[in-house]
Amino acid sequence: MPPKPHVIAIYPGSFDPITNGHLDLIQRGSRVFDKLIVSILRNDLKQPLFSVEERMEMLREVIRGYENVEVDSFGGLLVDHAVSRSATAILRGIRAISDYEYELQMAHMNRRLQPDIETVFMMAGETYSFISSRLVKQVFGLGGNIAGLVPPSVLERMQRRLPN
Ligand code: PNS
Repeated sequence: MPPKPHVIAIYPGSFDPITNGHLDLIQRGSRVFDKLIVSILRNDLKQPLFSVEERMEMLREVIRGYENVEVDSFGGLLVDHAVSRSATAILRGIRAISDYEYELQMAHMNRRLQPDIETVFMMAGETYSFISSRLVKQVFGLGGNIAGLVPPSVLERMQRRLPN
């Protein structure tokens, strides 16, 4: 029997900040792939709440204990980053039908650019299907309670960044 391939996947995103929905996908992805690289897009066009370095630190804090998960960042094309990290899969989460159209476009474009890389979708856990970084920031900024929606270490950083 041929040896089982060692499958490396990239889980790309903005992660500004990481939510419990992202963390759920990381946990589940780490069981499916031999190695999972959580990669933050370096995007000069967006005005993030946390710098890429801060987001990498937050991610490292929450992935402690997952031996096959690591954190990285990238600029330029995602598929070029995936090739440079020897990844053959891209992991993305889908929360609702509204995510599907954008994700489908990206998956097709990425396959056109790099046919050897497969996009793998996982459905967000039902407890997390309404959580997004954007809403978490908005609710927190308006004084709402986001405990349970982000990891405790992220909540602490948000309280320091945006005291409300
Ligand atoms: O968390 P997000 O903001 O939904 O993540 C979007 C991300 C980073 C996956 C996407 O913007 C991306 O892959 N950007 C890199 C540029 C690229 O490769 N574009 C072509 C594929 S559509």
